[in-house]
Parts: sequence; C-alpha cells; structure tokens
Amino acid sequence: MIFELCATILLIGFILKMTKRPHNFPPGPRGLPLVGYLPFFSSWDPQYPHKAMKKISEVYGPVVGLYVGPSRPVISVCSHEAMKEAMLNDDLNGRPDSAVMMARTFGEKLGIMFVMGQFWQEQRQFTMRHLRDLGFGKTSIEDQMMGEVGDLIKDIENKSQSDPERIVDLKGIFQVSVINILWALVAGERFQRHDSKFQDLLRANELFFRTGKIFRGSMPVPAFLLKRFRFIREFIGVKAELIEPIQKFIKETIEDHQQRNPSDDEAGDFIDVYLKEMKKQKDENPSTNFTEKQLISTIIDLFGAGAESTSGSIGFAIIHLVRDQQVQQKMQMELDQVCGEFFPTINHRSSLPYTESVLMEAQRCSTIAPLTPPHYAIKDTKLLGYTIPQGSLVSLNLHAVFQDSKYWKDPEVFRPERHLNDDGSKVIKSDHFYPFGLGKRMCLGESLAKNTYFLFTAALIKKFRFEPVPNEPLPSLDPTNGFTLGYQGFKVVVTPRS
Ligand code: HEM
Ligand SMILES: *[C@@H]1O[C@H](CO)[C@@H](O)[C@H](O)[C@H]1NC(C)=O
Ligand SMILES: *[C@@H]1O[C@H](CO)[C@@H](O)[C@H](O)[C@H]1NC(C)=O
Repeated sequence: MIFELCATILLIGFILKMTKRPHNFPPGPRGLPLVGYLPFFSSWDPQYPHKAMKKISEVYGPVVGLYVGPSRPVISVCSHEAMKEAMLNDDLNGRPDSAVMMARTFGEKLGIMFVMGQFWQEQRQFTMRHLRDLGFGKTSIEDQMMGEVGDLIKDIENKSQSDPERIVDLKGIFQVSVINILWALVAGERFQRHDSKFQDLLRANELFFRTGKIFRGSMPVPAFLLKRFRFIREFIGVKAELIEPIQKFIKETIEDHQQRNPSDDEAGDFIDVYLKEMKKQKDENPSTNFTEKQLISTIIDLFGAGAESTSGSIGFAIIHLVRDQQVQQKMQMELDQVCGEFFPTINHRSSLPYTESVLMEAQRCSTIAPLTPPHYAIKDTKLLGYTIPQGSLVSLNLHAVFQDSKYWKDPEVFRPERHLNDDGSKVIKSDHFYPFGLGKRMCLGESLAKNTYFLFTAALIKKFRFEPVPNEPLPSLDPTNGFTLGYQGFKVVVTPRS
C-alpha cells in the first residue's frame, strides 16, 4: 500500500517535472502530461494548423510556447518582429529529426531541407551554386519554360474545344509543366504530359504532401518504436511506400547518367555535375558527404519543395482571378498593352506592375507554405527576450504575418492595388511580405519559382479568359491540407482570347 502510494507520487512528480516549463519560457496553453497540447489544436481550428496557431497567438501573444508529446517544446511565431528575429537567428536554423521526413531519405538524415550544420551548409551551397550555373533563375532556361507554357496552353485549348460548354478541370494540370522544368535542370530530359509512369510518380509525390500531418509528423518517436509498431508509423504518417517508387526512378536515371559517363565539358545537368563531384571527392576525401544516396535525397527534396508549391501558386492565382473578373480584365489590359501579340517574357516583367501586384496578392492571400518546414533550436537562445530551450521546434507562421491587420488593411480581402503606389506605376515591396522566407534557410528555389509562377500565370491570363461555370459555386479558396497547401480541383469556362 505504502509502496504503491510512493510509486504514484513519484510518477506524478516525474510527469510534472517533465511538463514543467523552463524559466522565462514564452506564454502558452498547457496540455496534458505525455501528449502535451497535441489533442487541443483542433479546438481552435478543426482543419488547419496554421489557423489554429494564429488564433492561439491572438490570445497568448506573438511568441507562444507549448509542448507536444511528452517533452518536445514547440515555439509558435506569429508576428513580423518575432519572425524576422527568428529567421535571422542562426541558432534557430536547425531542423528537427522527423521520422516522416527521414522516410523519404532512406531513414537517414540526408538531402537539404531536413539536415543542418556543416552537412547542410556544404550541400546547400553546392546545390545552389550549380543550379544557378545550369540556368536557375536565368533567362537561359526561359526557352525551356516557354516550351512548357506552349504545351500547357495547347492542352487547355484542346480540353476547352472538346467540351461543348468549354468547361475545363484545372486540377493537377500545372504539375507536369513545373516538374518538367525542374527535371530538365536535374536530369536534362523531359516527360511527355501523358506518360503513365510519370503520372504515377506525380500522384505519389502529391499524396505524400497532401496527407502530411505537421504536428504529428514532428513528434519525436524513437526509431526502435517506429520499426516495431505499425500503428505508430501510421499515426504520425510515415509513408515510405509512397517514396520508394520515386527513389527507384531517380536511381535509374542516375545509372543512365553514369553509363553515359560525360566528359567534363559535357556536364549538362545537375546529376552530371554531382557525379563529377562524387568522383573527385572519392579520391581525395574518404569520408565525403557526396554520395549517391545524398544525390537521390537532394533530388527528392528539390521536387518535394518545388513541384507542389509552384503549381499550387499558379492554381491559386487563377482561382483568385476567376473569382474577381475585374482584376482579370485589368491584368489582361496591361499584358496586351505591354506585350502586344507576344507571350510575356522575363524582360517584360518590370514593365508589368499590375500583373506583379496580382501575383503578390495571390501569394499573400493563399500562402502555399503557411508554416515553413519546422525550424529547430540548435542551442539555448532568445526570441523577443524569451528563453528558447535547445531542442525546441520552432513553427514560423507566414500566414499569420501576411494576414496581420496591423500591416494589412482588411487582410482577408484580395486587393492587388495594395502592393502599388498611388498612380499604379510601381510595385511597393512591403517589409512584411516574404513568401520565400528570410535568412539562411530561405527558399533555395526562389528565383526559379518566381520566374515559373510569373511566366505561366501571365501567359495563361493573356491567352485565355477564365470564367466561373454558370449556376455553380465559385471555385473554392479553401486549401487542401498537408505539409504544403494545395488548391482543390476546380472547373472553369475557358475561352481563348483573340
Ligand atoms: C512558389 C513557390 C515556392 C514557395 C512559396 C517556396 C517557399 C519556401 C519557404 C517558405 C521555405 C522555407 C524557409 C524556411 O524554412 O525558413 C522554402 C524552403 C525551400 N525551398 Fe522553396 N518555395 C517555392 C518553390 C521552390 C522551388 C521551385 C524549389 C526548388 C527547385 C524550392 C526549394 C526549396 C528548398 C530545397 C527549401 C529548403 C531550404 C533549406 O532548408 O535550406 N522551393 N521554400
Ligand atoms: C560531412 O557531414 C558531417 C556530419 O554528418 C560533418 O560533421 C562534416 O563536417 C561534413 N563534411 C564536410 C566536408 O562538410
Ligand atoms: C485532345 O483531346 C482529345 C480528347 O480529350 C484527346 O484524345 C487528344 O489526344 C488531345 N490532343 C492533344 C494534342 O492533346
């Protein structure tokens, strides 16, 4: 009896100690022992974690501290000041271990997006430098992009013509084009739009991102438990079976490249460049981090980060323009005036302030990565004066900043003009708008993404009129959930403009 009493008291003491907040921890709601606050997020918003976090922040302040799981501190950052400080603080530049993400990279910490320290710096730098040399963000891949734009337009034209009411379903239609651009840089080849193997890979990639659960996915679960219990894998959402075919496909492509064995001046794509570096390092540096597994993981990261986000941005921009016909017409007028009978090019871009403001406003209203991939406190540090313990997971809420009524008048309203000067001749860049993040973790694909987003959306709007389907609800702005947000499939009436 006494023994049980003591044991119980000890246990309670232990649990209380585990859930005790460190000194000067940011304010926030308390959860239950063991599970922390995890069961309560949905009471703030049943569907979207980024909205739940914004609402919690409206009660507790711009920096909120809470726990998920038995001992994982989570710091939610929702104001511009705190966001900027966090993104520029290198002690908050880590990434937490995550079984879900490691399932994509052979169960090891590989790739770029979910690694940190020396390994991350070396691999990120190498990848950025060579993608830039290969044409990332330069006009040299503009031709390639315009080829994809042309194909997409033909596809939509054909779909519109073959329906008596010219109704086209735009679900998933931009992914092929976006992936082809990435694949050209990475592997030097492109897919046919209707290639069935390619379609399978796209579906797997999309499913992985659509079914991801942000908070469950970052619960720290020891590897041995994961291996042993399928229900734990399922609960936190480890989906290795979706990734295996992608890994296999990339591996085969790398093997093709190895057989071709290009001479130095023939290194025409990222795989060539990386294989060359691997060879070089193998001779000089036996403990090299340039390995085939790392190459595969990097490619998986580029596609994971690049494909869904870029095609989602194009999709949301079109939805906003379907819902607001006036804005669409104004954009068309500007495009006609500046580009004449041609498709918009990167050179036109600086002469298209209205178009630019539409693109920005769509990104502000429909933020594709409302929570960045989680950051991680590498050591004890400070944020707005609060203590952030080492090991904290830091959740950066871009959505909350872009919807903050302190900086944006009627934040929920889609109004491109807010990004323009009074006479509409110039884009005003707001300090409170950074859809690609800030600091050293900032999006690695920003320049490519911006060009792709611009060229596709502008060309589509120049070429077609997009209108709502009569007698049906307007296409929805409610995103589909996941690690990044997607648009719901939507039908529109598409008419070619002459
Ligand atoms: C409109 C499209 C895109 C948006 C809105 C976007 C946004 C972002 C954001 C907000 C981050 C997180 C920054 C942070 O953790 O603090 C990020 C990271 C990243 N993005 Fe993008 N991105 C887009 C397209 C792309 C493309 C096309 C690529 C690749 C080709 C790409 C590659 C990456 C990578 C590799 C990271 C991780 C960087 C790191 O952890 O060091 N993104 N992106
Ligand atoms: C390779 O990665 C390890 C960590 O995995 C790191 O300690 C080491 O510094 C890296 N090597 C180089 C050359 O960056
Ligand atoms: C046009 O659409 C029809 C029916 O949807 C399809 O069979 C045909 O292959 C398409 N043509 C092209 C060039 O995409």
